Amino acid sequence: MRVTVYNCREFDEKELFLRYEKELGMELVLCADAPTLENIHLAKGSECVDIITSKITRELMQAFRENGVQYLTTRTIGYDHIDMEAAREFGIKVGNAPYGPNGVADYTVMLILMSIRKMKRILERTNIQDYSLKGIQGRELKDLTVGVIGTGRIGRTVIRNLSGFGCKILAYDLYEQEEVRQYADYVSLERLLKEADVVTLHTPLTDENFHLINAKSIAEMKDGVVIINTARGALIDSEALIGAIESGKIGAAGLDVVENEFGLYYYDHKSDILDNRELAILRGFPNVTVSHHMAFYTDNCVETVVRDSLISCKLFLEGKENPWEVG
Ligand code: NAI
Repeated sequence: MRVTVYNCREFDEKELFLRYEKELGMELVLCADAPTLENIHLAKGSECVDIITSKITRELMQAFRENGVQYLTTRTIGYDHIDMEAAREFGIKVGNAPYGPNGVADYTVMLILMSIRKMKRILERTNIQDYSLKGIQGRELKDLTVGVIGTGRIGRTVIRNLSGFGCKILAYDLYEQEEVRQYADYVSLERLLKEADVVTLHTPLTDENFHLINAKSIAEMKDGVVIINTARGALIDSEALIGAIESGKIGAAGLDVVENEFGLYYYDHKSDILDNRELAILRGFPNVTVSHHMAFYTDNCVETVVRDSLISCKLFLEGKENPWEVG
C-alpha cells in the first residue's frame, strides 16, 4: 500500500506523515512540491496520491492514471481545485479531509474581540512604548448584538462560543438549524443587518451571495458596525468596504480572507510589489485586522487532515466504506 504525498510541508506535516506511515503500515513517498508532469514519476507504483490545493488538471489526472494511481485524496475540505470530470473519465476516485469547525470558530471570536477592543491600535502603541489611553476605549460584548450569517458547521460553533459572552445573537441562513435556536434568534437578513453591532460571515461563496456585503447592504447597517469575514473574500465588495471604513460607517473589520487573495497567501512576498490595492489599503487602516486565510490553521487541523487523508487511502484500498470519498 503506497501513497505519494505532494506538497508535504517540512515544518508541520512531515513528522506526522512519518508517524502515521508506521501506525497505518503504509509506504509513503514524500515530495515537497506540487504535482507536475515533471515529478509525476514519483506517483509511479503508488495506488494513491495525497495533495493539497494545487490544481489537478485533466492532463495531470491522465498522467496519474497512466502511472497506476487509483485514488486521489486532498488534505482540504474543498475540492474545486480538482477536475472531477477528468477523475471520472480516467476512473480515479477522489476523497477530501474535512477538519473540525473549532479552529475557525475560535479565530472568529478572537477577531470580534480584537475589533471591539481595538487590539490592533493597542499592539501598535505598545510596540513603540505609547501607553496612552485616548482612542483605544473598547466595547463589551455583553452590550452588543452579533449577527451570524450562515449557521453551518462553523457559524453554529461561533454561536455556541458566543453564547458564553452574554451578547444578543441574531442568525440568518437559508436553512435553519434547531440547535441554533437555543442561543440565537433566526431573523431575516434585512433585520440582522439593521440590528447587529457585529456582522460575521460563515457561508460558502456562491453566485447568489457574491458581494453580499456591498454599498447597499452596508447602508442598511448600524453606524459603527463591525464586519468579520473568515469565510470567503468575495462575500464582501472591497471597494464598498473601504469607502464605508473611510466614512466611519464601518467602525472596524476583522478579515481573514479578502478578494483576489489567490496566489498571494502562504508565500513570502516581503520584497515584492503586489497588485492587490484593496488589500494594501485595508491593511493600512488602524481599525482593520487582516490575516492571511489561516483561521483554520491549528495543530488539531493539521493532524486531522494528515491522518484522515491516509486512513481514507487505506479504506479505499481495502474496499471498505470510506466516509471521505466525494466522487
Ligand atoms: P457549511 O457548509 O457547514 O455551512 C455553510 C452554511 O451557509 C450552510 O448552513 C448554508 O445553508 C449557508 N448558506 C449558504 N448560502 C447562503 C446564503 N446565500 N445565505 C445564507 N446562508 C447561506 O460550511 P462551513 O464549514 O461552516 O464553512 C463556512 C465558510 O467558512 C465557508 O465559506 C468556508 O469556505 C469558510 N472556511 C474558511 C476557513 C478559513 O481558514 N478562513 C477554513 C474553513 C472554511
